[in-house]
Amino acid sequence: MSETIRKPAVLVTGANGEMGHGLIDALAEIGNYSIIALDVRPIDESMKPKCSDVIVGDILETRLLERMQSEYEVHSIYHLAALLSTRAEFTPEAAHRVNVEGTLNLLKLAIEQSRWHGQPVKFMFPSSIAVYGLPSKEVKKKAGKVKESDWNYPATMYGVNKLYCEHLGRYYEKHYRQLASDNAGSGVDFRSIRFPGLISAVTVPSGGTSDYAPEMLHAAAQGKAYSCFVREDVRIPFMAMPDAITALLKLHDAPKNNLSTNVYNIGSFSPSAGRIFEIVKKEFPNAEIRFSPDDKRQAIVDTWPEDVDDSVARNDWDWRPEFDEARAFNEYLIPVIRKRYA
Ligand code: SER
Repeated sequence: MSETIRKPAVLVTGANGEMGHGLIDALAEIGNYSIIALDVRPIDESMKPKCSDVIVGDILETRLLERMQSEYEVHSIYHLAALLSTRAEFTPEAAHRVNVEGTLNLLKLAIEQSRWHGQPVKFMFPSSIAVYGLPSKEVKKKAGKVKESDWNYPATMYGVNKLYCEHLGRYYEKHYRQLASDNAGSGVDFRSIRFPGLISAVTVPSGGTSDYAPEMLHAAAQGKAYSCFVREDVRIPFMAMPDAITALLKLHDAPKNNLSTNVYNIGSFSPSAGRIFEIVKKEFPNAEIRFSPDDKRQAIVDTWPEDVDDSVARNDWDWRPEFDEARAFNEYLIPVIRKRYA
């Protein structure tokens, strides 16, 4: 009965954000999906034709989630909604509500959904290099490429929230109702990727701490002056947005038997801020970029690793980035950004 009334669908939260845009474009292009886009802000007009339904609402509103429960048959959830690391520091409790309670609400939705249609619900959760917390620049330098289990001592509310939600997802998948006599499990199939800083040619992020790289590039392409809030020598991993989207889709489609863990690092290139400056300056020689580090935001970036060891993802689901540093800038970022601001 439920199959005939409710529509089978993929739910994307945070649909209007940077990743949401890229993901919905990709899902719409693949074409097999009924996409329900959910965001707290009105969704861009350009996205609407790609979605079967567009909902403006807050993931903390239980009534909204109940309504969704009755209207849709959800098989996959891409839970992208979050308050990023810089913004979260200004309102840590609000960030906790959105990032943790919001995730819990969606996990509950996934359990209910799975109960109704009888199949696992894939729960795709973007985590972040912010879950790492290196205690000093020296240790960061020495640590080099960190493994998933290394240095899980986040120094931001956002990192704390992401790390906890990784565990929450694993708990719901593996241990939910472990003492119940019917112990039927939750039906949640939780899959998470710890993303590096992401750089998109079409959108600019807001509220993150890795934002200096995309901000520098987008400012230069528009001929706007930019003052970079970290030191030239600081290094963290970055990735071109198309690779991030490919990774999400690839992990979503990977056979469960191949997955040895719930949470994966993925990496692609790891330039210093000075290196990004060099590349941007070469392409846009008139760019007015200066470095004026903000000690506090700099301190956050200093706790994030220089690079990540992504060998488990490479092994389990054949992860490999298509865009290394040269391809990311030469074949994606620079040409697309030039066109965008032409
Ligand atoms: N890019 C994010 C941020 O800066 C980290 O996941 O908050």
